[in-house]
Amino acid sequence: MSKRLATSAFLFLAVWISGISGGAAWAKGTPWGANYFPNVPLVDQDGKTYLFYDDLLKDKKVMIDFVFALCDQGCPLDTANMARVQKLLGPRIGKDIYMYSITLDPENDTPQKLKEYAEQYGARPGWKFLTGKREDIDAVRDKLGQRSDKETHANAVQVADVASGRWIRIPLAADPGYIVTEVNNALYPEWSVGKKLKSYANAKTSEIFGPGQVMFASRCAGCHAFGKELLGPDLMGVTARRSPDWLANFIAAPNEMRARKDPIALELAKNHKVLMPNLKLTKKEVGEMLAYLQAKSVPVPAPAAKQALMTADATGAAQSGALAHDHSQHDRSQHDHSQHEHAQHDHAQHDHGSAQE
Ligand code: HEC
Repeated sequence: MSKRLATSAFLFLAVWISGISGGAAWAKGTPWGANYFPNVPLVDQDGKTYLFYDDLLKDKKVMIDFVFALCDQGCPLDTANMARVQKLLGPRIGKDIYMYSITLDPENDTPQKLKEYAEQYGARPGWKFLTGKREDIDAVRDKLGQRSDKETHANAVQVADVASGRWIRIPLAADPGYIVTEVNNALYPEWSVGKKLKSYANAKTSEIFGPGQVMFASRCAGCHAFGKELLGPDLMGVTARRSPDWLANFIAAPNEMRARKDPIALELAKNHKVLMPNLKLTKKEVGEMLAYLQAKSVPVPAPAAKQALMTADATGAAQSGALAHDHSQHDRSQHDHSQHEHAQHDHAQHDHGSAQE
């Protein structure tokens, strides 16, 4: 039978079954169902085997990204941000939404290696790190549009409601609070129906410290905060404990500081489970970052320093209005997203917004 004939036979069957079953989700006509995804076996960090479509995708809401344990460029930030997102989404992960990080390096990433990797980043249950045979991984990543080689893979998470066939891609080098909002918008587009939304007019105003703040939210907040330790050290007081030169060099290229055997960098590395990646910031960005650290890492910012920041560059902050407020300053469960581009609402207040730290 020709391929076309086979396809039409399948479609006929699908329509017919949906007619009698009252519309099984997969039969509603999404092109990204059982006949699209390979149903290959993948193994998680606990050594359990799952069929990619039947067990991991079918009828589920999922978040999928690609990583590998030895990756020291985009992956540390991606995985740190996924971990923050998992915390923010709380118990919904593993019950309502499933997270999968699929390795691009199955030759090295055994389940045991992935288990260590997951533990390094504080991954909780509900988030599977998956490996398998090279050809099976390749089949999966091809269908998910991840076709570049592992060094240049996309730093994005694919978010899908598989039953409805709605798939979107969200950048992972982004503010974890923004990622959560986008995940909610993608998976629950009807969440606001029948609800009374708050007006922008009542949005809390928050201070804007200049372009470094926007950068911090997307590139650093997955691992750092002021006033508490996350994967990386608490940055409160960091400008007092380190010299400006040391900070500039470390932020620009922590890997080179370690290679040069800088004693502070080696000491820091020894005491942390993950290493700070080289985020490839430009000189200008490092300068903006330092200005932000200076303003934030002292308990009460000096008025002069703040003034300088406010006038330094308002455009960077304005450009990404969605990111232009500091998530690290307050408890996210009370966080009002109403300044958000996409969100005239407080996700923490509707059914699926149980933000947890
Ligand atoms: C993937 C996690 C991660 C990301 C992303 C990250 N860091 Fe780090 N950072 C760490 C870890 C872990 C350490 C300590 C261990 C080490 O040396 O790598 C560290 C150390 C530091 C230190 C030294 C702290 C001290 O006490 O001396 C500074 C400063 C710093 N990071 C700033 C930043 C800035 C600014 C960004 C964003 C541009 C950033 N980090 C992004 C994980 C990260």
